[in-house]
Amino acid sequence: MKHKIDAIETPAFIVNTAIAHANINRFQRHCDTVGLRLRPHIKTHKLVDFAKAQMAAGAIGITCQKISEAEIMATGGLDDILITFNILGAAKLQRLRALQDRVTRLMVVADNEQVVAGLAATFAGAPKSLGILVECDTGARRCGVQTPKQALSLALSIAAAHGLTFAGLMVYPPVGGQAKTAEFMTETTQLLAAAGLACPMISSGGSPDMWTAATDDIITEYRIGTYIYNDRSLVARGVCTWDDCAAHVLATVVSAPTADRVVIDAGSKALTSDLMGFSDYGQIVGYPDARIVTLSEEHGVVSIASGAKITVGQRIQIVPNHVCVVSNMFDTIWMGTDGDFVQHRVDARGCVT
Ligand SMILES: Cc1ncc(COP(=O)(O)O)c(C=O)c1O
Repeated sequence: MKHKIDAIETPAFIVNTAIAHANINRFQRHCDTVGLRLRPHIKTHKLVDFAKAQMAAGAIGITCQKISEAEIMATGGLDDILITFNILGAAKLQRLRALQDRVTRLMVVADNEQVVAGLAATFAGAPKSLGILVECDTGARRCGVQTPKQALSLALSIAAAHGLTFAGLMVYPPVGGQAKTAEFMTETTQLLAAAGLACPMISSGGSPDMWTAATDDIITEYRIGTYIYNDRSLVARGVCTWDDCAAHVLATVVSAPTADRVVIDAGSKALTSDLMGFSDYGQIVGYPDARIVTLSEEHGVVSIASGAKITVGQRIQIVPNHVCVVSNMFDTIWMGTDGDFVQHRVDARGCVT
C-alpha cells in the first residue's frame, strides 16, 4: 500500500529509489569505463531487491560481511557471493558448507592459518572446492596479512589444502591508500608467479575512493557499499552531493523546551551513535545550522539558532553520518519516489552472525 510521506509514522528510514538506482548506474558506468568488475557490498542496504538491481546493472556478484547476510541473499536468488570475513568455529563452518551447496559460486577470505585449517577440514570432502582470497592489510590496520611474503605463505597453504582453491587477494584499503595497495599487490603477485601460483582476482573496495577506483593494472574487482545511498560522511569527503543522498531518517519534533533547543523522536536507536569524525549526529535537510548535539536512545536533542522556525509536530529529514549502520536499526524501510512510499522488510536486518 502506498503512503504519502506525511502518513509515515516516525522515526522511519526512507529511501528515494530513483536516487538509489541513479547511484547504482553511475558507479557501474565508471567501473565499465575503467575496466573494473563490480561486486557491491550488500551490508549497506541488506535488501535482496537492491542486490538484484545491482546485478541487473552489471555487477558480477555480491559481497556480504556475514554468513547470515549471505544466507538471506542466497534464498533471494543471488548466487555469486564473496564473504569478506574470517570464518571460525564449528557452527559457522557448517553453515558455510551448507551455503556452498545453494549457490553457483561462494568465496571467503582468510588472513591466518587457523582460519584456513578450519575451512580445509570442513571442505575436504565437498563436491566443489571453496575459493579463498588472502586478505592483505595495506594500511587500514584491520584484518589482513602484513607482508607480501605472508600472503604468499598463506596462498600456498590454501592451494595445498584439499577442498580449497586459492582464488586471489583481497584488501580493504585505507582512504587514499591506492598507491600503497598497488605496490603491495604487485609485489605479492610477483611472489605468487615465481611460486607457480596464478592469482585469478584482486579485490579492493570502499566508497570514499570510488571515483579514483581504477585497475591500476592490478586491481580486478571493486567492492562498494555506501555508494547506493550515500551519506553525510561521503558528502563531507566530496564524493557525492546532498542531492545524491537516497536515504534519510524521518523524524518528528516532539518537544521545544527552550528557544534554542528542540527534541526529535530519533535517538541512538534510529540514527546510531556513529560520529564518523563529526561532532553531531546527522544533517537536518533544510536547516544547515541546526545540530543534533546529543542522543539518548529514543530522543535526539537539536540545537537551533534562537528564532529558527522548527516547531513541535514538524517532521524533518536527516541525512545520517553513516548510513550502513542505520539500515540495521529498522525492521522496515520506506521506498519510493515522487512522494509515494511503500514499506518493505529489510531482509537481512539484524544479520550479524
Ligand atoms: C571488506 C569491505 N569491503 C568493502 C566495503 C565497502 O565500503 P564502503 O561502504 O565504503 O563502500 C567495506 C565496508 O565496510 C568492507 O568492510
